[in-house]
Amino acid sequence: MRINDSKIAARLGELDVELVPGTRLADLTSLGIGGTTDLLRIRRHESIPDLLNLLDANHVQHKFLGGGSNLLVGDGELPWVVLQLVPPEPGVILEGNFARVDAAADLGRTVTFCAKHDLGGMEGLIGVPGTVGGALRMNAGAYGMQIGAYVRAVKLYRAADHKIEILQGNQISFEYRHTSFAPDDMMLAVTLELPSKPYKEILQGIRICNEKRRSSQPLGQKSAGCIFKNPPGASAGRMIDDLGLKGLSVGDARVSDRHANFFVNAGKASARDMLKLIADVRERVKKAYGVTLENEVVVWNG
Ligand code: EPU
Repeated sequence: MRINDSKIAARLGELDVELVPGTRLADLTSLGIGGTTDLLRIRRHESIPDLLNLLDANHVQHKFLGGGSNLLVGDGELPWVVLQLVPPEPGVILEGNFARVDAAADLGRTVTFCAKHDLGGMEGLIGVPGTVGGALRMNAGAYGMQIGAYVRAVKLYRAADHKIEILQGNQISFEYRHTSFAPDDMMLAVTLELPSKPYKEILQGIRICNEKRRSSQPLGQKSAGCIFKNPPGASAGRMIDDLGLKGLSVGDARVSDRHANFFVNAGKASARDMLKLIADVRERVKKAYGVTLENEVVVWNG
């Protein structure tokens, strides 16, 4: 979608929002898939309510983009604009065991920064790509830990109330790859309470997790991490692997040879290819095990 109205463009400037016309979302997602639309880069949280009122008043549909690492975007000209927060410097402020982190901060860098200040707990998340906001919304987890366990407060834009609010940790429920945030809530910042641990010890944990990840996941390839959630008590990756589906492909969309729940873009895969492959694997798993796998990847198609 294109913002061609010069009045809207001028108002965006007043709100300190940068308009980047004709952005290819394939360049902003780890899968390297996605069509074209206008990107709005937000420099001040406080401008968000006015920005969204402006978009609503002009019937401009929008979506919020985090780090683009768990996302499959449709092909072609997209029917909505994309909003993204510009990461501020510094992204993390420490106060004792509390880390106040901007949602646009990179997750891995945040884990490392806290580690250097002897704050641990998040070692398992070190290799999870994306922003802190994205991790928060999905309750990202790996190697026995989930980010939700450390959340004490969240600053967010509540679309339903048209305003910025602060929620305390006990007002939010965190489950496996699921949170109680509304789909149109926009994460802005989070306060984490992290356990004290010597840097050396945290580093050891980080090294172990990195090694496990390197040996089991296709890290050098374009992917969105795991495509499906694990069904209760089972591993989607193992189920797909046991059906002999590693290497199955539609165009350049391909089930990874290394981890069967990672689907990679081996060249110029389209969203259409990837969606077809996802539907095909889901169907085969349903037939063989009677289980319908749920998407873990977020799909923006239409
Ligand atoms: N396995 C296979 N074949 C495969 C993949 C896995 O046999 O192709 C087996 C493994 O050998 C292991 C079991 O299945 O015995 C579980 O595999 P793994 O340890 O890789 O964990 P997972 O359940 O497949 C989950 C998360 C990952 C996270 C890892 C490590 C989900 C959907 N996936 O994977 O998260 O990194 O544990 O904690 O919960 C993500 O969310 O995108 C993601 C990659």
